[in-house]
Amino acid sequence: MAGRLRAGAPPRVRAPLLALDDYNRPARLIDGADPAQQNDWLNAVYDDRFLATVWAMHDGNPTVSSSASLPTLVARMLQLLDLQDGHRVLEIGTGTGYNTGLLCHRVGAEQVTSIDIDDVLVAEATDRLSALGMRPDVVAGDGADGVQDRAPFDRIISTCASPGVPVPWIEQLADGGVIVSPFTLGGALAVLRKTGPNDFLIGMPEPADRRDHHHSTSEMDPHAFADVDFRLWLSLHLPADVRIVDLVSDHETRTRTGVVVHDGAHRAEARFPTDDLDMHITQDSRRLFDHVELAWHSYQLHDNPSRERIGITARTDGTQTAWLDHPDSGVTWPLLPGGDNAWR
Ligand SMILES: C[S@@+](CC[C@H](N)C(=O)[O-])C[C@H]1O[C@@H](n2cnc3c(N)ncnc32)[C@H](O)[C@@H]1O
Repeated sequence: MAGRLRAGAPPRVRAPLLALDDYNRPARLIDGADPAQQNDWLNAVYDDRFLATVWAMHDGNPTVSSSASLPTLVARMLQLLDLQDGHRVLEIGTGTGYNTGLLCHRVGAEQVTSIDIDDVLVAEATDRLSALGMRPDVVAGDGADGVQDRAPFDRIISTCASPGVPVPWIEQLADGGVIVSPFTLGGALAVLRKTGPNDFLIGMPEPADRRDHHHSTSEMDPHAFADVDFRLWLSLHLPADVRIVDLVSDHETRTRTGVVVHDGAHRAEARFPTDDLDMHITQDSRRLFDHVELAWHSYQLHDNPSRERIGITARTDGTQTAWLDHPDSGVTWPLLPGGDNAWR
């Protein structure tokens, strides 16, 4: 799991290795220093799962603030980074230093700069890497600022998700350089190549990992998909690149049998039950149906708002915002170019 790019390190709880079975399930502490837990620890480390390594309190709730990313994701991101001999690399999100070590191994520690917002992690990772004979430049700070002193970089890899591309990354990237970063919208990976001093060509998003299918059930009412007000609500909630397609049983009756949610690369499918059972959901690693369920819960939370409760503010500078009840209600959505009706 990639962390989220944020300003200011939260207060830390502790930093032993924790294994998290799934995003929402409770974590179990595995202490590798305890001989009785060493097997579990080794299994966790060599398994293809992400491991929470630091918890921080947010609004009174323990939240993962650093993790060792899923090994297959680390490998995929390095593959997309396309490192060549002599490349200078900036890594955003040092965390344990594991990926930093891989970067050092590939291009040499003197070519590698890594930054993490958590100075304790920076100190720990520096010690860990140094014990392996690797001395990259590891600094504490907000990765959104890049590391100006060490620029330009041929490659920038971020292990924490960002809502967009921070301008310093563009400025600190050499011409022809590449950025690989997950974005907060569903964690989609993007590869950006700098084509000129200020230009970017947005390259391929991460293709769906077909092996990584999650099956679950949902208590969501399938009739919601026939409700025009919910369809509008859902359109406003989905990331701009996500579309929904109705599945119909036959073209005569056009009875809805389910929906597909997709972004071109990732796909989730909900099959409506023919009896009293719950909907069956199949989705890949982007977990697109989770967005639908979240929208459903918030729709109920706001008393199933009809479309009359939704308004739009459009300005001459091109910004457009949809809102619930009142422009200042606090429940608003940016209307993005390309983020038109999600139903296709
Ligand atoms: C997924 S973890 C890092 C995984 C790491 N590459 C590894 O191999 O262990 C993401 C890291 O990003 C850091 N982070 C979050 N927001 C940041 C920011 N604004 N600037 C720099 N680092 C940040 C977190 O402290 C966390 O350690």
